[in-house]
Formats: sequence, C-alpha cells, structure tokens
Amino acid sequence: MGLLDGKVAVVTGAGHGIGRAHALELAKQGAKVVVNDLGGSVRGEAAGTDGAADTTVGLIEKRGGTAVAHHGDVADHELAGDLVRTAIDTFGGLDILVNNAGIVRDAAVWNLSREDFDAVLRVHVAGTWSPCHHAARYWRQRAKTTPGSTGRIVNTTSGAGLGGNFGQTGYASAKAAVVGLTLTLALELHRSGVTVNAVGPSGLTRITATMPGAGEVIEPDDLADDEWHPMDPANSSPLVAWLASDQAQYVTGQVFRSIEDRVIWMQGWRERTAVSAGGRRWEAAELGDRMSIDVFGTRGAGLRFDPA
Ligand SMILES: NC(=O)c1ccc[n+]([C@@H]2O[C@H](COP(=O)([O-])OP(=O)(O)OC[C@H]3O[C@@H](n4cnc5c(N)ncnc54)[C@H](O)[C@@H]3O)[C@@H](O)[C@H]2O)c1
Repeated sequence: MGLLDGKVAVVTGAGHGIGRAHALELAKQGAKVVVNDLGGSVRGEAAGTDGAADTTVGLIEKRGGTAVAHHGDVADHELAGDLVRTAIDTFGGLDILVNNAGIVRDAAVWNLSREDFDAVLRVHVAGTWSPCHHAARYWRQRAKTTPGSTGRIVNTTSGAGLGGNFGQTGYASAKAAVVGLTLTLALELHRSGVTVNAVGPSGLTRITATMPGAGEVIEPDDLADDEWHPMDPANSSPLVAWLASDQAQYVTGQVFRSIEDRVIWMQGWRERTAVSAGGRRWEAAELGDRMSIDVFGTRGAGLRFDPA
C-alpha cells in the first residue's frame, strides 16, 4: 500500500535532479505520473536535446511504476494546458501537481541582462502559474460534479526567494513570487478541496553545480534507494509525497524547507513591532528615534543584516 495509490500526478521539470526524484517517489507511493521536462540546459537553452523526461519514465517503469512523458515548456500557456490534459486523457484525471521546473542565470544585478532576468521569471513564475491555472479550472469543475473531491499543488521555492542570495536577483525574485502565488492560490482553491503549499528543497543538481565550490551533480538514481547522502536531490521528495497525500488535507498555504535530513516549517513576514503616531501622519524627523528605540530596540541593536 502506497500513500498515493490511485492518484494521478504531474511533476514539471522531472527529467533531472529534484523533479526526477519527486516523480520516482510519487510513483513509488502508487501515483501514476506525467513526467514533464523540455530537456534543455540548466540555463533553459537547447530545449529538446537530452530526452530527460523519457529517462525518468524509463526509471519509473523499471521499478514497476506507471508514467508517461510530456516534453512541453511549462511557461508556454498552451503547452501547460496540454500537460494537464495529458494527465486527464492518459490516466483519467489529475490529483497532484508538483511545479518544480527551473533554470538559473546568475549574475550580480549590474551584470545581469534584462533578457536573462526575464527568462528566469518566465520559467519559475509563469511556468508555475500556467499549470496551476489549467489544473484549477479542472479541479473547480470536478468539485462541482464530485463533492468531496480534492487536489494538491506543491510549488518549489528556495532559500534565495525566502532570504535573498548574492547574484540571484532574477532567481530570488522568481522564488519569492512563487511564495506569494502559493499563499494566494491556497485562498482561492480552498473551497474546491485543493491544498497549495511550497517546498524549498536542496540537493547537488545541475543548478547547484553552476555555483562556485559546489559539489558534483548527483542524479537521484545514482544512489541506492536506501543510501544516505545529505545532498541527495531526493531528500525533499518524501515531504512532497506526504503533502500530496490524503493525510495532509489540513495543510495548506504553508512554506517548508527540506535541507539534508530536516523538514523545516517556515514562517515569515509576520508583524513584529509597531509604533503609532497617535491618529496623525508621522513627521519624517520623528522617525529616527522612534524606529531605533521602539521598533528595532536599543538604538538599532536589535536590527540584523548579514551581508555575508
Ligand atoms: N538544487 C537545489 O539545491 C535547489 C534549491 C532550492 C530550489 N531548487 C529548485 O528545485 C527545482 C529543481 O531544480 P534542480 O536543482 O533539480 O535542477 P535541474 O536542472 O536538475 O532540474 C530542473 C529541470 O527543469 C527542467 N526545465 C527547465 N525549464 C523548463 C520548462 N520551461 N519546462 C519544462 N521543464 C523545464 C530542466 O530541463 C531540468 O530537467 C527548481 O525549481 C530549482 O529552482 C533547487
């Protein structure tokens, strides 16, 4: 008995790395999986050159699971619709959407081209929004005809989006946008029984390999199923599978990180301290003292900024 027996899942960007690991785990838990990947470089170039989606489908089938490949670009709105339809036409429905596809084009803001900024935003933000749009339409309709039906979206954020990272203004903007999108989708889809959460994974993948000093790429199937490596791209996949399961119906609008052996429930942008002007507009000159003493505490000593 798997946690996801009878479910149908779509995993985007599942040809390599973390997405491949998610697809393998969801299939291991009993889901039928549509493995999406356009098969390009880590920068999102040369689409259709590496057949990565087919490799993952082959691995799933070899392990006794059921999967089909989809080679579309998730940021293309029509192809994202085709992706959702592939699940419905091939496996009879859709229960789980894991938006994982991603690229990187890193450079400090003064060296980053507008073209590279746009390309990163397109894949992570539009490439998450479009599959969600098509799946949401399907799930809203299904909720009307099948009361009690449910759905799952797991989006992919990162430490850069949650806390910033030097050289990643495009990537961090995109990954922060994924969080805003997740929180809003959770509100919009609640009445349709659909939960929406975000996971910030980790692992030695093609993406981390672009960073100086990072270790070599590990594909999830390079390691034995029971082998422990702290940077195995598969380490976040059990969390994704659990969020996708019926057990997690009560979990929505949440952000998690999965780093090595830890699952971390993240919370941010909560009101911390506030000062009131007392029913009038502030004078700018008053704010210096009030901010440093009453908001940040003891002349700014409570304020932390770590540029390292
Ligand atoms: N590796 C990490 O430590 C880490 C940390 C935080 C977040 N992430 C996120 O995890 C996700 C997976 O990245 P990864 O590290 O496994 O990298 P990866 O390059 O191994 O995998 C990303 C996959 O997405 C595919 N892809 C890219 N653009 C696509 C598109 N438009 N349509 C369909 N497929 C597309 C690529 O072909 C690739 O197979 C990304 O969203 C990434 O931002 C990774």
